Amino acid sequence: MNRIYFDNAATTALDKEVLDAMLPFMTTNFGNPSSIYSYGRESRLAIENSRKSVARILNANPGEIFFTSGGTESNNTAICAAIRDLNCKHIISSPIEHHAVLHTVEYYACNKDVTLSFVKLSDDGHVDLDDLEKQLASHEDRCLVTLMHANNEIGNLLDLHAVGELCKEYNAIFHSDCVQTVGHYNIDLRNTPVHFISGSGHKFHGPKGCGILYVNENVKIHPFIMGGGQERNMRAGTENVYGIIGFAKALELATRNHDEESEYIRSLKDHMITKLENTIPDIQFNGDITGESLYTVLSVSVPKNEKSEMVLYNLDINHICASGGSACTSGADQGSHVIRAINNNPNKVTIRFSFSKYNTMEEVDKVVEKLSEMI
Ligand SMILES: Cc1ncc(COP(=O)(O)O)c(C=O)c1O
Repeated sequence: MNRIYFDNAATTALDKEVLDAMLPFMTTNFGNPSSIYSYGRESRLAIENSRKSVARILNANPGEIFFTSGGTESNNTAICAAIRDLNCKHIISSPIEHHAVLHTVEYYACNKDVTLSFVKLSDDGHVDLDDLEKQLASHEDRCLVTLMHANNEIGNLLDLHAVGELCKEYNAIFHSDCVQTVGHYNIDLRNTPVHFISGSGHKFHGPKGCGILYVNENVKIHPFIMGGGQERNMRAGTENVYGIIGFAKALELATRNHDEESEYIRSLKDHMITKLENTIPDIQFNGDITGESLYTVLSVSVPKNEKSEMVLYNLDINHICASGGSACTSGADQGSHVIRAINNNPNKVTIRFSFSKYNTMEEVDKVVEKLSEMI
């Protein structure tokens, strides 16, 4: 039986074209990019061409793009640099960030390197910008604001421009975890007031283990990983050449067909909302699902009972892949810190469905049918 994969916010299938672009760098073109002979120079050229391509798509300078091992490393690097190199003494974040941000800011706050506060959220999970401004105004020391562009569990989108302008006004550093939006939205960095953004290749049909950190050219930071002089002395370690090639190729493909693919994926989500409303009367949607929301993510809660408590397991038995929250909590119902923060209802079970261009309307129908049988 074919599997239905509705967990594209956790990771996506690698595109065949991406694999084809990567393969030569796993086989014949294996040179170390730091080697001076031709094998090495070919790898170096491929990396720099990838950087140029990524920079062009995101409207940044190539010098502002650093390749990393993924979203987690990019988030860690930005937060560490803001504290260590940019004199940030207070962090403003939100309780619904990915753990790659949340655990990092908590670590620095626990070590007494900085103080930490969270912005208020509206009932549907949006950041309260008035509260953000109040918090910025109440701190004399420089602040780091780290807020995600799109929430990976409920899909809510942040207004990067509005937050960036506030940060500018209060001389704060602004980092945004854009892992769920790079490759899914047009991001124009030259015209977005942000100091750091993080992206990850495996969220848009690229390879796992390769991401980017954008560092605005006006910001000067020290490396997070020490060692060799790779990534212009900013990120030591022999480059993940095929990962980098794959990241750039995947971003190119995502951009090339963006309008039609995003419209198609949005129609899957809309169809699922309508079907669920018509089939499961007690269904509850989490977040601002039809407003400022990722077109790829739909989070629902259903009343808790003996059957629904086992829902992810039963979906799996029916060859349907979905998750309870972020990927880290898939399969085990440990509860989600995001759902707890916006709606602490212990009598509900939450399921996140997330879609890609490879999903179909028939799959949506099938999943809704199975779900309604289960609960
Ligand atoms: C919003 C968000 N940030 C960060 C990450 C971590 O990215 P990576 O898996 O590339 O380390 C993820 C992945 O689940 C994510 O969804």
